[in-house]
Amino acid sequence: MRFDILTLFPGLFRGVFEESIVRRAIDAGLVTIAIHNIRDYAPGKHRITDDAPYGGGGGMVMKVEPIAYALEAILGEDLPLRQKRTGLVEVPIVLLTPAGRLFSQAMAREFERYGRLVLICGRYEGVDERVSQLFATHEVSIGDYVLSGGEIAAMAIVEAVTRLVPGVLGDMRAIVEDSHSADLLEHPHYTRPPEFRGAKVPEVLLSGDHAEIARWRRREALRRTLERRPDLLEKASLSDQDRLWVEALRRGETPSQEGE
Ligand code: ADE
Repeated sequence: MRFDILTLFPGLFRGVFEESIVRRAIDAGLVTIAIHNIRDYAPGKHRITDDAPYGGGGGMVMKVEPIAYALEAILGEDLPLRQKRTGLVEVPIVLLTPAGRLFSQAMAREFERYGRLVLICGRYEGVDERVSQLFATHEVSIGDYVLSGGEIAAMAIVEAVTRLVPGVLGDMRAIVEDSHSADLLEHPHYTRPPEFRGAKVPEVLLSGDHAEIARWRRREALRRTLERRPDLLEKASLSDQDRLWVEALRRGETPSQEGE
């Protein structure tokens, strides 16, 4: 998987990509990340990357030319044109903006399948609309809040997509994918000690009864999802047993955290 990131702040990415899972994926040759400073592509002695908005108002707007020249240097002139003409995406060109479609696990899976991704980090005041019109295949937001720029959003997407690249998580991936993990919130986790300041690990987890543990985890995942993200339950694939459980929770018949 190859990522090309266009940014005015390349330094922001260093620490994040030099540790942990992304670092391991790079070291294993499974992922390549190229960070491009948009300023390097800005024409003129002063390498200006932003300007005042037409129509007035506050803030500055990122200019189209430096981003256009950067994209053409990275991808060639033909590819972005062809994508816009045919509507067929070969390499997603993603503009990070709070006005974009909401990023999701499904979108991470979609991006991973392309094998290559270009991420354009905008500043929050805005990016000249012609970047979307002429180049971007996707406009994506990571949540309903405003960041100062798209850099942290790009990091989140790189991390989420990298985890899905075959080989990065090894055996873990199959488990994560099989458990419908994206449909429901995860069940609570515990490790030693069995009791800390009066807070006990649920009895069932110490029982060694794997069928009962699986049932408990599923029920706790349903409980959390119902309490915190009821919108996810509408889309989740639920068994008949799950539905009975959700109904019981809704009626306030909530079996104890400790299981039965
Ligand atoms: N830039 C500023 N805020 C953002 C957000 N929430 N998602 C993606 N890019 C952004």
